[in-house]
Amino acid sequence: MAKYNINYGLDPRRDHILYKDEDHKVIYLGTNMSGSGDMDVNSYIIINKKKGMLLDPGGYKIFPKVLSNISKYLNPKDIEYIYMCHQDPDVAGSVPLWRSITNAKLVTSWLWIRFLPHFGFEDVDSVAHPLPDEGSELSFGSTILEFIPAHFLHSPGHFTIYDRRSKFLFTGDIGIAILEDPSLVIEDMDKHINAMKPLHERLMASNVALKDWVSRVSSLDIEAIIPQHGGIIPKKHIGRFFNFLSNLRCGVDLI
Ligand SMILES: [Fe+2]
Ligand SMILES: [Fe+2]
Repeated sequence: MAKYNINYGLDPRRDHILYKDEDHKVIYLGTNMSGSGDMDVNSYIIINKKKGMLLDPGGYKIFPKVLSNISKYLNPKDIEYIYMCHQDPDVAGSVPLWRSITNAKLVTSWLWIRFLPHFGFEDVDSVAHPLPDEGSELSFGSTILEFIPAHFLHSPGHFTIYDRRSKFLFTGDIGIAILEDPSLVIEDMDKHINAMKPLHERLMASNVALKDWVSRVSSLDIEAIIPQHGGIIPKKHIGRFFNFLSNLRCGVDLI
């Protein structure tokens, strides 16, 4: 198998290995039901040397599906980290269920650590891996994960992750759209920009925040933009994606 599987036509309703080498995998967990009426989420797991980092596990309702799809690739007890790119329920609603079956550390902005007791955790300090505002790096098996600040896009404590091994940039709510095309990977970028625009105009705080983030990530060697809703943006469209964001007036720009 080629290392990358970022092809037009991938069915968003089922799991797919998006990247694979001898000790590293990135898997899409088949969580987007495409038109189910709910705000569909895209959840992913990074597996390196048989240990997992679950990215944005999603809400309460999709827990059984995420669990069963992960179990095809990894014993769920081997999930070492659960990442919450920000505090929203579509990102983190299932976190208490995950903590009931794993000892995974919760990686998120320091800003959201004080909210974790509301999930029912008593000893937050032993559960949490707080990210400082300026970002950080985490050595995870044979890769390095870079937590890149993306504050106010839309959450005031939001990070995107660059996985140096797969060269994927996980962008949380940046790059989201409601997926209409029955493909997980975006082909028609004109159509996709039209779909992203109203959501970004409303959710993202300002053009200043967008430009700051684009300046942090645009020099990276990126194979695909992997957001938490909607479609994956393949390499050939990334320049247009950054251009779209850099020129967008949004949030307080529109008041
Ligand atoms: Fe959000
Ligand atoms: Fe979201």
